[in-house]
Amino acid sequence: MAEDLNIISGTKTEQYESLIPQIIGLLEGEPDLIANLANVCASLKEQFDWLWVGFYVVKPAFAEASPGANDELVLAPFQGPVACTRIKRGKGVCGTCWQQAATIVVPDVEKFPGHIACSTLSKSEIVVPVIRNGQVIAVLDSDSEEINHFDETDKFYLEKIVDLIQF
Ligand code: SME
Repeated sequence: MAEDLNIISGTKTEQYESLIPQIIGLLEGEPDLIANLANVCASLKEQFDWLWVGFYVVKPAFAEASPGANDELVLAPFQGPVACTRIKRGKGVCGTCWQQAATIVVPDVEKFPGHIACSTLSKSEIVVPVIRNGQVIAVLDSDSEEINHFDETDKFYLEKIVDLIQF
């Protein structure tokens, strides 16, 4: 494995096309999930320098903290400022993505009802579900300091990237 990522400038598509083979290289031969999630976040952060990028994974609720709850999203490897650790199904952008099992692009977080503001600097967001055997098992969340930063190109490539990860 190369020690350093090759970070390029160019269009969004060019940046993803350059990054994806490098992510494949990083994942190759490594079965450890946490290591792989960590390197995927680091790769995206290095190439795109978003405010925050990271995974939340579906886990059984911590019974004492969430009486009566079933599963919830729990913070997993990420890059960026500290973030909320637990999100319930249907809550915020991440919990809504989980509920809908579909990517959500949020051009302006202030206009998304129930948006959970982990950082006041976040202005727009995209959340992509990780679906295995028909179930959402995690989500990949990316936040930008710019309004309207994420679009269909990000959706297309981030969905490809989460499919590369062996969960
Ligand atoms: N904004 C997310 C919460 C996670 S942070 O952005 C890292 C949401 O509304 O679910």
